[in-house]
Amino acid sequence: MTKLKIKIDGHEIETDDGGGSATILEAARLAGIHIPTLCHHPSLEAYGSCRLCTVQIVKNGRKKFVTACNYPVEDGLVVNTCTQEITGIRRMILELLLARCPQEKRLQENAREYGIIKPRFTLEDKNCILCGLCYRVCDELVGVSAINAQNRGVSRDVDTPYGQLSEDCIACGACALVCPTKSIRERKNIYPLSSVDIKEMEEEFLSGTIDNDLGVNRDMFAGKSSIEGQDGGMVTSILHRGIERGLLDAAVVAQINKSCGANAAFVDEMDQILQAKGTKYVRVSVIAPLLEALESGKRRIAVVGTPCQIRVVRKLQRQGYFNEKFPDAEIFLIGLFCFESFDYESLKSRMGELLGIDLNRAEKMQIAKGRFIVAVDGKGYSCRVRELEDAVRAGCGFCDDLVSRLADISIGSIGSAEGYSTVIVRSERGEKLLDAVQFDRKEINREEIVKLAAIKKKNADKNFAGIVAGLPERLEAERRERSISCELQ
Ligand code: FES
Repeated sequence: MTKLKIKIDGHEIETDDGGGSATILEAARLAGIHIPTLCHHPSLEAYGSCRLCTVQIVKNGRKKFVTACNYPVEDGLVVNTCTQEITGIRRMILELLLARCPQEKRLQENAREYGIIKPRFTLEDKNCILCGLCYRVCDELVGVSAINAQNRGVSRDVDTPYGQLSEDCIACGACALVCPTKSIRERKNIYPLSSVDIKEMEEEFLSGTIDNDLGVNRDMFAGKSSIEGQDGGMVTSILHRGIERGLLDAAVVAQINKSCGANAAFVDEMDQILQAKGTKYVRVSVIAPLLEALESGKRRIAVVGTPCQIRVVRKLQRQGYFNEKFPDAEIFLIGLFCFESFDYESLKSRMGELLGIDLNRAEKMQIAKGRFIVAVDGKGYSCRVRELEDAVRAGCGFCDDLVSRLADISIGSIGSAEGYSTVIVRSERGEKLLDAVQFDRKEINREEIVKLAAIKKKNADKNFAGIVAGLPERLEAERRERSISCELQ
């Protein structure tokens, strides 16, 4: 890296060129000089859409306005961050943004700093300021790309493809965390959830003892049913008996699909339930088959899914999405324990490299004691789960829920003896389903589950820490500590 000398607001500053990528904004921040921003986040590619960071540079004796967040530093560059003209530009930008989102606290604060109490203009109240932070964080950091910018000019907006309910959103909440307004939180077709939302939904949908590590529960045990399935076969038994006893009309389950690993479908016959047994370890969308089941007249439906799928369905339930159209619908959520899921194509290619097998021919997959075990043509193969890191699905690193905390019943193999499933019952609705099932019962090893749940949470916290550290509030607090300020002109 090369050392450069620049001058910002009369302060001589020595800075690195960052291999050619260091910007005026970074240099100013390192020197404790405040430049306001809205669309900038240090962990994301520079975007330059809001122009609030406008500064003036003097180059070859000529003055020019540039955006500090994406203008590279050059040796000898002279920068002014708070002249009267710059203040005028920022005032105009803030006035327009405030006219668009008059109720937004973060904008109000920025505007107040520039002496604007009430904007002179009135624009349609939209909440979204089109800063792009939400979809950039979803794409660049979480890796999911559930939303994106759409249309041009006055019709420009942020949305899912065709405005449909998102099949990709994993309900991690990263978009809502960076959104400077309430816009993202108010969207109905994505599912940004905060820890407060999770708590509120636990209160609304579940009842029992509160366990800080494993969530609300009424009962926790290791179960083995008479039906053969993965581990204790408890998921298969619950669905099977539920349909047999008329407690369920249908179930949404993942089925093996030779071309993409698995797909979700709604089933209502015993043999279909039995065929769907076994964990698939790839994420499938449960919304479309759930809606299909409802539209075909099914009303009591069990949805089996990973923690992210369970969060998605709960968020839709909370906003009344299903009961608005189908007031008598009763949805039972059976959540699976999930540390991470895999991208099928990457998993298939990695399995081919490591074990020389074709995953399309797998009869059974299982994760146990840190090993991924596959049965092909009646023969068992295994490798360490750690060796499959590159095949882990984007976004899993942002999920902090191992045990499907929002499900009516959570089921997994962690914490149980071989041949048993760990079962956590979290609601009366879940209890009702379980009452129909006969099974052997044993104690669980709670500590084993807690340990793995803590590791998953720690991973997610680490990933979120990078996002939180770049939020304006944090940067502002840091700036105050250094406190080199410029007077408003
Ligand atoms: Fe630089 Fe928005 S253009 S922060």
